[in-house]
Formats: sequence, structure tokens, C-alpha cells
Amino acid sequence: MSFVPLVFSGVQPTGNLHLGNYLGAIKRFVEMQATHDCIYCVVDQHAITVWQDPFELKKQIREVTAAFLAAGIDPVKHIVFNQSQVPEHAELAWVFNCVARMGWLNRMTQFKEKAGKDKENASVGLFAYPTLMAADILVYRATHVPVGEDQKQHLELARDIAQKFNNDFKASIVSNGHDGELGYFPQPEPLTQGPAPRVMSLRDGTKKMSKSDPSDYSRINLTDDQDAIAQKVRKARTDSEPLPSEVDGLKERPDADNLVTIYAALASKSRADVLGEFGGSQFSVFKPALADLAVSVLSPINTRMRELMEDPGHIDAVLADGSERAGAIAAKVMGEVKDIVGFLRSRKS
Ligand code: TYM
Repeated sequence: MSFVPLVFSGVQPTGNLHLGNYLGAIKRFVEMQATHDCIYCVVDQHAITVWQDPFELKKQIREVTAAFLAAGIDPVKHIVFNQSQVPEHAELAWVFNCVARMGWLNRMTQFKEKAGKDKENASVGLFAYPTLMAADILVYRATHVPVGEDQKQHLELARDIAQKFNNDFKASIVSNGHDGELGYFPQPEPLTQGPAPRVMSLRDGTKKMSKSDPSDYSRINLTDDQDAIAQKVRKARTDSEPLPSEVDGLKERPDADNLVTIYAALASKSRADVLGEFGGSQFSVFKPALADLAVSVLSPINTRMRELMEDPGHIDAVLADGSERAGAIAAKVMGEVKDIVGFLRSRKS
């Protein structure tokens, strides 16, 4: 016996969707549709762990949905929805808050980074963020989670929560008719082995490309037009050496490595192939080629996103349909979790 393979992943609607989100996550979401059933979520409840302007948030939820659709996610064959429309995420997260240990959450590096020096002033939600993320995945009993490398630690926590739940409630899991050895929840597997699991800042190849970097030149946004993309690539930081001919030559050259990795991921080639073509070239040759490639891949997505954003009614209808279908799966799992934990079911569930 094993769990039915199912893909789940999410993106926060916190603005400035960028090339890292695309290459590390959304491009892979599109690819996984060919081999798996997939559920893709706009995680608006995660977004409010830090302050979001309510008027902007609505727009940003639609924008991430538009990016999913524009990149090629099929909301009919698969499921696209926003988290807050399926209340079972928050419901299961509460159960997981009671399964996870303070010590586990205290180790999360993302909380430390985001809370900064003033931990006392961080929201409780920001601290508990990873238990909601575990609930997002496990409320569908999803088995595979395509994410960028920065989410790996959260996935490990989700696996620990699944395992502790399976152990703590083993007797009840069995008495409710499930396989005690397998457990009720799968151990979700992070899929981070894409071509660009960690896209770095264009201004500093040792820092992750991030939505919150104050410099807009650090990232290529999915909403950037052709001129902006070309200008950002032109201004990207580099060293003064020509490109090496071997991948080994990129060691200790983080800015060069980042640009070659981005080129390779956009072209669906290996870094070795890219260096086979550009080894020995100066950045004055490589950068225009990279800008052209980035424009050719991102422009159609950008254009489609703009068209979709002009019809918010259509986006809302996609999300409503997705939420209904996601909600049907989540309600069944949450009902079974209630039985296992020892709650009485309501008339609805
Ligand atoms: P978020 O919204 O920060 O990012 C969305 C996805 O983009 C990836 N990513 C990157 N990949 C490569 N290089 C980068 N520079 C880069 N920056 C971001 C992220 O790894 C992510 O895959 N906690 C998640 C959202 C979430 C989630 C989930 C994901 C909530 N619940 C359940 C998977 C399953 C987050 O903040 O992603």
C-alpha cells in the first residue's frame, strides 16, 4: 500500500513575483502537470503573517493567479485556488499547532530572517507559518511538493509533523479503518532538483533574488516589460573575466554563475551547454544574448498576465471553481482527521 501521488504547491501573493519564483517554482508547476494530478494554491493566509494593504492584497491574489494561468497551468485538468476560500487549511493548521513542538519552530531560519532583531514584535502567525504550510500540503495528503531551495526546511518540518501525527494517533488511525503502518498522512517530498532552485540577486550573486529586496534592479519581475528586462540584465553585477569554458570555472564567481544558471534554466539547457556556446566570451556578448532570451520567454507570459488582469471576473471564477473542487477533497480529509483526533463531527462534515 502507498499513497496516491499528488502534487501541491503554493505561492504567496505578496507582490513582485520574480524570475526566481518562475524558474524555481512556477515553471516546474507547469511541467509537473504532464505526469501528476496537481493542486496549486495562492496562499493568501500566509501573506498576512506580515502586514498587507487589503486593497493591494486582492489585486495581488489575482496577479499570482494570472501568472499561474499565463505560464501554462491548466485550471480545468488541475486545481488552481486561493487558500482562504478553503477553511480546512486553517482548521488542520490548528491541529498541527498542537502536534508540532516549539523547539521545532524555533529552529526555522525563515522566521529568524523575517522577524529580524525585533522578534517580540513579529506576529504569532509568522512564527506558526510552517504549521499552516504543512496543513496546506497534508489537507490533500499530497505526496510531492515542487519548491525552491529556500522552502526545504519548511518541508522537513511538514514531514516531521506528518510522522508525529501518525505515531501519536496510531491506535486511533487503525481503529478508524486506516493502515497503521502506512499512517494517515504521507511524508511529502520536496522537489527542489530543478535547473534553478536558487536564483540569486542580479545585484549580488551571494544573495537570493527576493520579492522584498529594496532594489528593483536585484530582480526581474514577471510584470516587467521588455525594456525593463533588458536594462536590468545590462546592469546586472559581473566580474571582469570572460566566461569560463567549464562549469568548474564558475566556482568563486557567484555573479557569473547566477547569470549562466538563469540562461540555462530559461533555455532548458545545462550550464555546460551554455558554457560550450559562450565560454571565452565577454559579458558584453553574453548579456545581450541573455536579455533577448529572457524577453522571448517572459514577454508572452507578461502579455497574457496583462490580458487576464483586465478580466478580474474570469480570474475570480477560476478561483471559485478551484476552491470548490479543492474544498471537497479537504473536507473529506478534515472529517477523517476529526475522527482520528477524537472530535465529534458536525452535521456538515
Ligand atoms: P514564496 O511565495 O516565497 O515563493 C514561491 C516559490 O518560489 C520559490 N522561490 C525561489 N526559487 C528559486 N530562486 C529564488 N530566488 C526563489 N524565491 C522564491 C519558493 O521556494 C517557492 O517555491 N512558504 C512558501 C509558500 C507556501 C507553500 C505552501 C509552498 C505556502 N504553503 C505549501 C509549497 C507548499 C513561500 O513563501 O513561497
